[in-house]
Amino acid sequence: MAEALQIRKACVDDAPAILAVHMRSIRVLCAGHYSSDEIRSWTRHSKVETYRNAIRGCFETLYVALLGERVIGFSALATRELRALYVDPDMAGHGYGKALLNATEKFAVNDRMKALYLDASLNAVHFYQSQGYEILRPAHVELPDGTELPSLRMKKTLPKRTG
Ligand SMILES: CC(C)(COP(=O)(O)OP(=O)(O)OC[C@H]1O[C@@H](n2cnc3c(N)ncnc32)[C@H](O)[C@@H]1OP(=O)(O)O)[C@@H](O)C(=O)NCCC(=O)NCCS
Repeated sequence: MAEALQIRKACVDDAPAILAVHMRSIRVLCAGHYSSDEIRSWTRHSKVETYRNAIRGCFETLYVALLGERVIGFSALATRELRALYVDPDMAGHGYGKALLNATEKFAVNDRMKALYLDASLNAVHFYQSQGYEILRPAHVELPDGTELPSLRMKKTLPKRTG
């Protein structure tokens, strides 16, 4: 029987699984749109401690999507900014990215955000467009080693909070 998707705030113990999903997702799902040098730069400085610190800190909130005990995706939400949304490549294309995005948008609405902005990696632009995001302008994400990854700045106006 298929297990239901559960979405909750990440805890510190989720950090290794989040790191693993993040790295696999970049290497498999982003590879078609970025060079192997860019993918190496994107992944090589990643450490589990960075995710632990992000979960403990107050700059952003991380959420995990679980099937049973397995973390199959995560998102990171700061004020008016969707900083990350990644699904394990084994699980892509089954509606989990959409479900995690919808849930993260609901958390943003509950936190009284009126809009969400993001820097979409080029492979994810159509996904975000299909979920109501508009392209604002070309942008780039700067990596710790100075590599600049091309991206597109996108925005979605969120519905009003009810209640
Ligand atoms: C982008 C990503 C989160 C989508 O997750 P997913 O679980 O594969 O997507 P879903 O199965 O929920 O798809 C939802 C909808 O988007 C569409 N979609 C998903 N990926 C798409 C793509 N690359 N191109 C076009 N449409 C896409 C689906 O067809 C589906 O449409 P529908 O609702 O009309 O059926 C996932 O591919 C991923 O993790 N990519 C790598 C990480 C990344 O680039 N994240 C964004 C960083 S800003």
